Amino acid sequence: MRYLIFSDIHGNLEALEAVLENTSRKKIDYYIFLGDLVGYGASPNEVLKKMTALKHLIMVRGNHDKAVCGLDSIQTFNPIAAAAIQWTRKTLLKKYMSLLSSLAKGPLVIHKNITICHGSPFDEDYYIFGEFDAVEAFGYFDTPLCFFGHTHFPFIYMEKDQTVEGTFIQENPFEIKLEKGARYLINPGSVGQPRDRNPRAAYAIYDSEQRRIKFYRVEYNLKESQKKILAASLPSALAERLGLGI
Ligand SMILES: [Fe+2]
Repeated sequence: MRYLIFSDIHGNLEALEAVLENTSRKKIDYYIFLGDLVGYGASPNEVLKKMTALKHLIMVRGNHDKAVCGLDSIQTFNPIAAAAIQWTRKTLLKKYMSLLSSLAKGPLVIHKNITICHGSPFDEDYYIFGEFDAVEAFGYFDTPLCFFGHTHFPFIYMEKDQTVEGTFIQENPFEIKLEKGARYLINPGSVGQPRDRNPRAAYAIYDSEQRRIKFYRVEYNLKESQKKILAASLPSALAERLGLGI
């Protein structure tokens, strides 16, 4: 089975389109989305339309999805993120608002041996930033593999012989073969708002038969996304950060 693993689109239609275009000739059996469909970007309705058209899509909710549909307050968000959430609340169609409220809470175990979550397997809102967090997270799932998002950084943590080692993925593409006897926590990076100083959209493909995961980065029409953010009177910092990849 081949899985497209992607996360954190944040209302960026152009980035999502580039990922789907880039994978259109690759065989994908399942789409696994790790949360944050909306928030920050200017195209929440268009992103939800595209996503709901995908067959074999499995999703968990992100903190921005929860805040937009009112399942969470905006108090924990910084002023710019909170402004984007309020704008998205006003802009989002009713049918998509109810879709956000019905998204599953992670962690979920899918296909018996894959765990998926937004932040971490012990708290959907927690950021796994570094090996210390990863050691704790490995204690909260039983499968050999757990995919997570939320930090917007492509990363692999491998647990083997009671040690945990993290690797920040900077090569494009970058492929790993999963080792027998090891367990993995893997973040594909962010589609719509990368924060690793690389503005290109990030995603990964997991091939369960080959036991391989390949990370990719793809250029997208960044200028168009920025133009839409400014035209929507969203905070201009949201357009600037896309260009910087922060
Ligand atoms: Fe996010």
